[in-house]
Amino acid sequence: MRKTINSPFSVLAGLAAAALLVPQLATAQSSREHLSLDANWRFHPGDDWPDALHLENSGTGSGPAAERFADAYWRVVNLPHDWAAELPFDWAADGSHGFKTLGVKYPTNSLAWYRRGFELPKADEGKRIWLTFDGVFRDATVWVNGWCVRHHEGGYYPFREDITDVVRFGGKNTIAVRVDAAKTEGWFYEGAGIYRHVWLDKTAPLAIAPDGVFVQSEFEKSIPQGTAEITVEIRLLNTTTIATKATVNCESFSPEGKLLKKLSGSAELRGKSQGTVKLASGLSSPLLWSPESPKLYKLISTVSVAGKIVDKQETLFGIRTVGFDPTNGFLLNGKHYELYGTCNHQDHAGVGAAIPDALQEFRIRRLKEFGCNAIRTSHNPPTPELLEVCDRLGMLVMDESRLMGGDSENMKKWDDHIRRDRNHPSVAIWCIANEQFAVQDTPQAANVALTMQDYVKQLDALRPVTYAAPEDNVFRGINSVIEVRGWNYHYGPQMDRYHAEHPSQPNVGTEQASVVGTRGIYTNDRPRGYVAAYDVVWPGWTTTAESWWSFFAERPWLSGAFVWTGFDYRGEPTPYWWPCINSHFGILDTCGFPKDAFYYYQSWWTTNTVLHLAPHWSWPGREGQKILVQAFSNCKQVELFLNGASLGKQAMKRNSKLSWQVKYAPGTLSARGFDEAGNVMAETKVETTGDTTQIQLIPDRRIIKADGEDVAVLTVAALDAQGRVVPVAQNKIHFAVEGAGNIIGVGNGDPSCHEPDTFVPIVPVRSVAVNDWRWQLAKVPHNRSAVPEYANAFDDSTWDTLKAKTSSSELTIKTPDTTAIYRAHFTLTEEDLRDSGAQMCFSTCDDEGWYFVNNQFVGESHDWQAQPIFDIKEFIRAGDNVVAVGVNNGAGQGGLNPNVGVKIIGHAGAPPWSRSLFNGLAQILAIHARRR
Ligand code: GAL
Repeated sequence: MRKTINSPFSVLAGLAAAALLVPQLATAQSSREHLSLDANWRFHPGDDWPDALHLENSGTGSGPAAERFADAYWRVVNLPHDWAAELPFDWAADGSHGFKTLGVKYPTNSLAWYRRGFELPKADEGKRIWLTFDGVFRDATVWVNGWCVRHHEGGYYPFREDITDVVRFGGKNTIAVRVDAAKTEGWFYEGAGIYRHVWLDKTAPLAIAPDGVFVQSEFEKSIPQGTAEITVEIRLLNTTTIATKATVNCESFSPEGKLLKKLSGSAELRGKSQGTVKLASGLSSPLLWSPESPKLYKLISTVSVAGKIVDKQETLFGIRTVGFDPTNGFLLNGKHYELYGTCNHQDHAGVGAAIPDALQEFRIRRLKEFGCNAIRTSHNPPTPELLEVCDRLGMLVMDESRLMGGDSENMKKWDDHIRRDRNHPSVAIWCIANEQFAVQDTPQAANVALTMQDYVKQLDALRPVTYAAPEDNVFRGINSVIEVRGWNYHYGPQMDRYHAEHPSQPNVGTEQASVVGTRGIYTNDRPRGYVAAYDVVWPGWTTTAESWWSFFAERPWLSGAFVWTGFDYRGEPTPYWWPCINSHFGILDTCGFPKDAFYYYQSWWTTNTVLHLAPHWSWPGREGQKILVQAFSNCKQVELFLNGASLGKQAMKRNSKLSWQVKYAPGTLSARGFDEAGNVMAETKVETTGDTTQIQLIPDRRIIKADGEDVAVLTVAALDAQGRVVPVAQNKIHFAVEGAGNIIGVGNGDPSCHEPDTFVPIVPVRSVAVNDWRWQLAKVPHNRSAVPEYANAFDDSTWDTLKAKTSSSELTIKTPDTTAIYRAHFTLTEEDLRDSGAQMCFSTCDDEGWYFVNNQFVGESHDWQAQPIFDIKEFIRAGDNVVAVGVNNGAGQGGLNPNVGVKIIGHAGAPPWSRSLFNGLAQILAIHARRR
C-alpha cells in the first residue's frame, strides 16, 4: 500500500485550511510496501558528462552515474516533473511540439540528469526490491549505486526492474537517471523528464508478481442479470531456489465495504518460477459499474507460505459488461450506451505532461461537466492514476497504444500495458493505434493488427479492440480484420455505405470534429493566432460540433464518438503557426476554462437545462455594427432580448444551436429558454462590463491534503465594480504564496502567450579556478590517512609544476604501480563561505585518487574515467586553502588532470510568479509544500 505523509497542512493565502489525515492501510502482516519515490530528486539540465555510461565494466559509471557524486547544488524537484514546460519558446523550434527549445536542434536543452537517494533498513535484507518508473520522456538510462540497471526507450510505457542484487541493506542507495528527450514520438507536445511517478516496492522472495492480479467479471451470455461469475488470477513469483507451496486467500468486499466472499487456492512453485492460482465464485445481483454509478468492489489477496502471510495486495474492480453490437453500437451493461467522448493528450497549462494526480481528477471532473462520459488516451497509454480517477468518478476509457508493431519489443510493451490496465473497470476499449497512413491498407498491417488484437483476447478476452482509421468506405488492411471499425473523421454517407456493406462489423467514432476556437475570441486574427470561437468549419478537414453530432446521434450503430479534443494542448497550433504555440481544438482551453462549444455539448449530452449566449457583450467602438450571436441550449424555444427589447423567438431543433445578427449597443443581451408549453425554463444574460477594479481567486476546493502532492487549482478572475468578469481584461497579475504551499505552474489558455508557465528557482554558481599545481612521486596510503605532504604548511616549492590544462589528461606518472602527490593553493573570500555550498570538481584521475582539502579527507575515486565532484563546504576557509591528491597509477601511464575548479553555490532565489489574464481569466496551480 502506498505510504502517505500525515502532517498538518497549510495552503494558499486566501484559502481556508484544515488538517486532513490520510488513513494508512495496515501493512503490518504483509511484507509488501509500495513507496513513492517522487520527493526530493536532484535535477541537472544538460549533460556535462557525455561519457557517463561505461560499457567495459560493471558498476563503473562516471559523473552523476557514479554512486558517489556531489549533486548538492543541483536543483531539488519533486515528481512528476516536465522540464520542457520550463523551457522558452522559439519560432525556429518544432511547432508541432509547441515551439519549445527542445529536440535535436537544442541538444543542451534535451538531456538532463536526475538523482536521489533512498535508505533501506537492515531488516529488509531478504526482501526483493523493485524500482518502477510509470513513464519517462523519453530515453532513460538508470543506475542504482553506480550499476547500470536499465536502458528504456519509449516515453509512455512503464518499466520496472528488480534491483535487489545491487542495493545496500542497512544504508544509503543512490538512483541516477539520464533522460534524453531529443527524439520525439508524437506530433504534439510530449514533455521531457520523469513526468510520471516512481515507486519502490518491497516484497517477500515469494510474492504476487508485478501486475500479477487479474479480476474479471462475466455474466451468462453477457447479459448483466442475476449472478456475475468473478474469476481471479493471481500470478505468483518465486525468486528463491526452493520449491515452495503457496496458499492464496482472496476476500471480496462490496462497494460499502461488506465482506462478500472468501476464496482460497494454492500452487506448488518450483524454485525460480512463476505460477498462477485461478479462483472463481458467483456474486448474485451485483451493483454494476457505469459512469453514472461508478461502484467499486475490492479484492484483498493474501499469499501465505507455511501458515505465514508473505504478501497482501488490494485490487479495486468493477462489475460491468462492455461490448459492441453491429446494430446497437457500444453496449454497457447490455444496453446501447452512447459514447460522449473526447480525445485528450496528457498536457495541462503550467505543468505540461507532469500532471499531478489531483489535477488529473480536476480534468476528469471538468470533462464530466459537459456530459463527456468517455476519453480516448490519444495517442499513448495513460498514467495509472488517470485510470484510477476514471474508475472512481465514472469515465469510460479507450486505452491506446503508442505504436503498432508485432515485433517482440512492441509486444512486450503491449503486454505490460494490458496487464497493468486490465483491472480498471473504466477501461472499455483497447485501441491498437492511430492513423497508420503509410501502411493501414496493406496485408502486412492487417497481420500486425491481428497479432495485437489476438494478444488482447489472450490477456483480456472480454474487451473489444479498435483502430482509429482515417479512411472512408475502405475495407482493406487493418479495417478488414479489426473487431470494431474506428472512424477518424470521414463522417457522412460513406459511413452508411460501409455499414451496409459490412453489416457484421461494429463501428465507433474514434475521432471527430477538430473544430478550432479560442476562448473569448469572436474574430479570426491571424497575426495574433486567434480563431473565433463560433462553431464553424475551419480549417478544411474539420466538422462543426453540430454537424458531426447530429449525424452520429441519429445512428446508434456508430456508438457515438470521441471529439478531437476535450482540452487544448501544446503543439499542433492549427490553423495558424507561430506565434500560436498550442492547439485550438479543445472544448476547454489548456487550463480547462470552457469555450462556447462546452455549452453545445452540455446541451445535448446532459439532462441539465442549458442556455448560453455567445459572444460576450463588451464591444466598445462597434456600436451599430452587426454581431453574430449564438445561443446554445436544449430548451424548445429561445427568445433573445437587447436591453429588454425582443429580437425574436426561435425554435431549437434537436442537436442544433441558434443564431442572430444583432446590431451592437452596450447594455444587456439576454435570453429566455422555453419548454414545449411555453414555460420559461432558463434565463441568461451577457452584459457590457466596466473596467477591472478587483481580482478574485477561486479555488476548486477549499481544503487540500497535507501530503506534498495535493494540488489546488485556482481561477484568477478580473471583476468590474459590480463583480462581473471582465471578458476582455488582459492585466498582468503577480502571485505569491504564504505558508506551506508552492506554485507549480500558471496558465491562462491564451494559445499565443509566450510568458513562462513556471518560474524555476535559479541557483547561482560561480567558479574559482585552481591553478598552479605541483607534483612529485611519493608514497600514498591507499586510504583516508594523511601524510605530511598533504598538510597546508608543507613546502612544495621544489616539486615540479603543472599548469591547468583543458586536455582530458596529463599523464605525469610514466610507470605502472607508482604513486604521486599533487598539490595546489586556492583563495576564497568571506563571501564565498557565506554561500550555500562549495564543491571541488575534478577531471580524470588515472587510476585512483585520495583527495584532501586543508589536510582533511574529502573523498576518493577508483575509476580513471570518473570525474569526481566533492562537497568541500565544511573543509574550506577564507584566505588560502590547499588541495592535495594522492594518486596511484595502476597500469600504463597515469596521474591527475590538473583541470580542477571550485564551484561556489549561491542561495536559490525564489522567483516572483506572474501571468497575464487572457480574456479575464488565468489559472494558478498550487501544491502542498513537501518537507525536505
Ligand atoms: C488527427 C490526428 C490527431 C490530430 C488531429 C488534428 O488526424 O489523429 O492526432 O493531429 O488530426 O485535427
